[in-house]
Amino acid sequence: MRVDPSAVIERLRALDQRSGGRRVAWSAVWSGERPRLANDLAALPGVGVETDAAGNLWATLRGRRPETLVLGSHLDCVPDGGWLDGCLGVMVAAELLATAAHAGSPPCTLAVVDWADEEGSRFGHSLLGSSAAAGLLTSRDLAGLVDHEGIPIAAVLAEHGVNLQTVNDAGARLTWVGAYLELHIEQGPVLEAQGRSCAAVKGCGGARRMRLTFSGEAGHAGTVPMEHRRDPVRAAAEFIATALRRARDDGGLATVGELQARPGTPTAIATACHATLDVRHADVGALDRLEAAAVETAHAAAHDTGTTLGIEPLWSIDPIAFDSGLVADAIRHTDGRPALTSGALHDAAALARVGIPTAMVFVASRAGISHSRAEDTSDAALHTAITAFVALASSTMQRLEAGRLARSPG
Ligand code: GLV
Ligand code: MN
Ligand code: MN
Repeated sequence: MRVDPSAVIERLRALDQRSGGRRVAWSAVWSGERPRLANDLAALPGVGVETDAAGNLWATLRGRRPETLVLGSHLDCVPDGGWLDGCLGVMVAAELLATAAHAGSPPCTLAVVDWADEEGSRFGHSLLGSSAAAGLLTSRDLAGLVDHEGIPIAAVLAEHGVNLQTVNDAGARLTWVGAYLELHIEQGPVLEAQGRSCAAVKGCGGARRMRLTFSGEAGHAGTVPMEHRRDPVRAAAEFIATALRRARDDGGLATVGELQARPGTPTAIATACHATLDVRHADVGALDRLEAAAVETAHAAAHDTGTTLGIEPLWSIDPIAFDSGLVADAIRHTDGRPALTSGALHDAAALARVGIPTAMVFVASRAGISHSRAEDTSDAALHTAITAFVALASSTMQRLEAGRLARSPG
């Protein structure tokens, strides 16, 4: 199968012009963009388009066998995100489906998916749609989540036709899924430093994410002596400085991506300070230790400052390895050099968790920058990576046709 990489890049540039950096999941811009993709795919011969119970958008082309190769990623982005994170994987899949649909019935069934809310930007829970499809969510995991304004997730998802009680019904779509492949930008500096355009990915590291609220006592900035204050901002500052240093010393990553003092005025000691903490590590034991150390640090900071602490878990996923056979194929179709482990999370991790043979291809990121408007990749690297990914998809279809891919128990 052949796909013109320039056509994929054209789709991406047009998408960026229309809605770049603004497609935060469950926003009007995001939901306004998806019907365009749906209509485009529904117009292809033999392709059926549906949205599942978790809001994932599927386009399916029935093949000679029911075993299905799924290709996908996500159209949603972080606020002010770049032109490639997520949509690269969707647009290459869309272009590949278009090629296959015009060529007639493929050897196995081919599906494209645009997963809903990969980024977790609004509610803090990443991989939402793919986790629901994989049966990894319970509505209880989600029920307590609220956005910045305190709006509950159930109300927002309902506006988009998603019922929190039935999100896992999305799993019905995975019955015949024989393999999942995703093309994504690396979002880090490794490939560029190694002089490589693209590479196979052998798995994803794990993450633990929580929201912490330090609560103290309001007071006038000009009158309350420092030693009498119960200042939640001081508690958060002590917590952040220590937790981030500990993560660095232990070889992990820790990020406080959101921080808010309430009510938030220069002349008053805050009553509350909210912070999110995201910790990452490729080793599950080290990840658990990092999380435990962060929680201990937060309690110590609250104690030191006379504040109280509330911790709400937002999301958690263990590190996961991809399918060794598909990773070997991906190495062969890219540059033959060692595969990378992804520090960023991807929908592929949710599918791999439940035993679906999964692999990814990364294309190099300029200066390793991502989750930023400055995110970029050269057209030359995109051409190389798209060609490698299409070759991997073709060889995976042949494997599925020959019954040479098996799901593991997950
Ligand atoms: C996804 O972008 C993640 O790694 O959080
Ligand atoms: Mn992504
Ligand atoms: Mn992202």
